[in-house]
Amino acid sequence: MAEFKEAPAGASLAVKLTTWTENRFPTAFDAYKVHMSEYYAPKNFNAWYFFGSLALMVLVIQIVTGIFLVMHYKPDAALAFASVEYIMRDVPWGWLVRYMHSTGASAFFVVVYLHMFRGLLYGSYRKPRELVWIFGCAIFLCLMGEAFFGYLLPWGQMSYWGAQVIVNLFAAVPFVGDDLALLIRGDYVVSDATLNRFFSFHVIAIPLVLLGLVVAHLLALHDVGSNNPDGVEIKAKKDPRTGIPLDGIPFHPYYTVHDMIGVGVFLMIFTAIIFFAPELGGYFLEYNNFIPANPLQTPAHIAPVWYFTPYYSMLRATTDPMVNVFVGLTALGTLVALLKGGFSGMVKGAIVVAGLVIILLLKTFDAKFWGVVVMGGAVVILFALPWLDRSPVKSIRYRPGWHKIMLGIFVIFFVVLGYLGIQPVSDIGTLLAQIGTIFYFGFFVLMPWWSQIGEFKAVPDRVTFHPH
Ligand code: HEM
Repeated sequence: MAEFKEAPAGASLAVKLTTWTENRFPTAFDAYKVHMSEYYAPKNFNAWYFFGSLALMVLVIQIVTGIFLVMHYKPDAALAFASVEYIMRDVPWGWLVRYMHSTGASAFFVVVYLHMFRGLLYGSYRKPRELVWIFGCAIFLCLMGEAFFGYLLPWGQMSYWGAQVIVNLFAAVPFVGDDLALLIRGDYVVSDATLNRFFSFHVIAIPLVLLGLVVAHLLALHDVGSNNPDGVEIKAKKDPRTGIPLDGIPFHPYYTVHDMIGVGVFLMIFTAIIFFAPELGGYFLEYNNFIPANPLQTPAHIAPVWYFTPYYSMLRATTDPMVNVFVGLTALGTLVALLKGGFSGMVKGAIVVAGLVIILLLKTFDAKFWGVVVMGGAVVILFALPWLDRSPVKSIRYRPGWHKIMLGIFVIFFVVLGYLGIQPVSDIGTLLAQIGTIFYFGFFVLMPWWSQIGEFKAVPDRVTFHPH
């Protein structure tokens, strides 16, 4: 056991209480030092670095408002819709709690998408932060599950039919699909049993996993240290006397105060939406969801909430002709690998066999199944990013100009895919979504090749910082 500390003579009550606690719970004080007052973060963080702490804040908002919603919500198909109306109309401040939670869901995705984009900009997923990124991707998957399960709970028309469409997708999985869909629903159609299990996942199972992953995400980050807009490792240049990185500043008080700016701006936008436009034109709360679920009446147009629509677009883009395009691309890929790869005879044989197997599988199962694979693959491929990017530098600041163009086109396609996913199916929309889907996957799959090409700028030894 560590030595007991003595409070100095004449110390204030606060100091005495702190010393008393520190003697009995030193771990908490050590953790505060390691993660706050003696965590040295690069001094050149910019506004993109607000989104990590904002994601943490939104997580807390969701948990706290969720706790209060559960006090009044009824997870029963006969009562759920009315209990939400009751929260909105009769529970004191219930409308505020509910709007904070529904707006918080969309805010979470806005913040997390921007947080992930920051990672892309500055190569924050590269060595030694691969695990930070992987935990992040797992968080993203959990977040999607959390949002999907939560969306069924108000038991409106969109809740019901959205869940019906998505769960039915699992039925497209070869051999086990029907049983899998039945297992998820707990019934042959979305019903009370489905609502109960989705409630259980939404309020306890996924939040627990999410919290665990967020802790792992931050611990892993603090073990290796933060990246920064220059992509320079600050640990490489330390003060020989103190061992502290020359370009590092203590997280507390510098970044706790700095992050307050982000929090202030975020809360202005967040509250403006809650008080003046909580449905945000049907994007945050869909109009069809103000109609109670009716299993006998399918809405004319079913679309998921905006944060799922890029992936939904990819699902809808995977038609029979698109599968033929995949076949063509696989054949082309195999040919290029054979001609350019300089592989031995054995490896060449393996490439031909792999190409043929993929083509055979593509032609064997139907397009609906491949749509599900494409939709899932679009998220799963993110896990591989640290190993796909072969650029000699991390940050976009020192990459060739055309890397910026690639990233720009990627973002435009992602937004266009998101827009198309909200619209009803059309010929031109499907064609655009197909081009977007191919670009999305091309961006990642061909990254080992394109990320090495071009003129890279010299990365400075120390971070660039202009005091303000
Ligand atoms: C609940 C969701 C999340 C929370 C609460 C969260 C929290 C944080 C925090 C507080 C930081 C440190 C501050 C900062 O660098 O902004 C951070 C860093 C980071 N996060 Fe997240 N994160 C979440 C989701 C994600 C996701 C989905 C990804 C990627 C798929 C991700 C990837 C990263 C990376 C790569 C860093 C290191 C950035 C750097 O050092 O440049 N995070 N995260």
